[in-house]
Amino acid sequence: KSVKVNSSATVANIVCGFDILGFALNCPCDELTVEVSEEPGVQIINEDDFDLPTEAEKNVSGAALLALLEEATDIKGLKLTSKKNIMPGSGIGSSAASAAGVVVAANHLLGNRFTKQDLVRFAMNGEKVACGVKHADNIAPCIYGGVTLIRSVFPLDIISIDAPPLHVTVVHPQIEVRTSDARQILKQQVLLKDAIKQWGNIAGLVAGFINHDYDLIGRSLEDVIIEPVRSILIPGFDEIKKASKEAGALGGGISGSGPSIFMLSKDAATAFAVEAAMKSIYDKMGVAYHTHVTTI
Ligand code: HSE
Repeated sequence: KSVKVNSSATVANIVCGFDILGFALNCPCDELTVEVSEEPGVQIINEDDFDLPTEAEKNVSGAALLALLEEATDIKGLKLTSKKNIMPGSGIGSSAASAAGVVVAANHLLGNRFTKQDLVRFAMNGEKVACGVKHADNIAPCIYGGVTLIRSVFPLDIISIDAPPLHVTVVHPQIEVRTSDARQILKQQVLLKDAIKQWGNIAGLVAGFINHDYDLIGRSLEDVIIEPVRSILIPGFDEIKKASKEAGALGGGISGSGPSIFMLSKDAATAFAVEAAMKSIYDKMGVAYHTHVTTI
């Protein structure tokens, strides 16, 4: 018996909520198939061209499944067949999709014995392999769906946030930014005046989602702490943001640790107009890119 899941891409941070907010996208998705195996440990077969490690401890899916196996002592081993469609290092939660998807699949195989919170805990071991830090702002939305708040990681406290329909445009300039590098360049201290602005925006964003207040969502999509540092790694960041807003986007910014940029729109027509605006900026600059237009 095997279980196959389509594990979705996610946008971490949602601009102002570094490490505490994220949402799941409807596409792209990784295709992950898990089956019980008589061979101890985790066997990994990669069916894509990303050349990811097949040694379980060094593989994000492997590390997540090993953590699960430690608490499923009646099972000897698991076999994973992985076909990734989310490019590693693109900033839309590629490692989280791998880590979260496999534990969701394994849990189905094992009669759903674990809670969603357990699955987040297992999958966070994959993020540790990927970037050295057990952040949950891609993992939690991948497992819970929708918009997710991680109020605390130790101990885990995850809250699903109701949100109105939102359309998302993502542009991925074809460079790779490693999350570990994008974390290393951040300042370790923030000014109180910046912190005040930031937590005002986070509270505004959450209130905007819950009250289905699109204007408040748009006003709150501002980051005065992380974006000024990280945006220098992303070609044409300011131009893309300006053109997207002129095309009608509510707002947006760096997706996770980048280099992808995402924009939220109220309706599909605007999301496609934003895509056209992004394309015209990168075409002018001669930057190679991919785009996705999808929903939360
Ligand atoms: N919150 C993490 C970061 C997400 O911004 O470093 C990485 O995808």
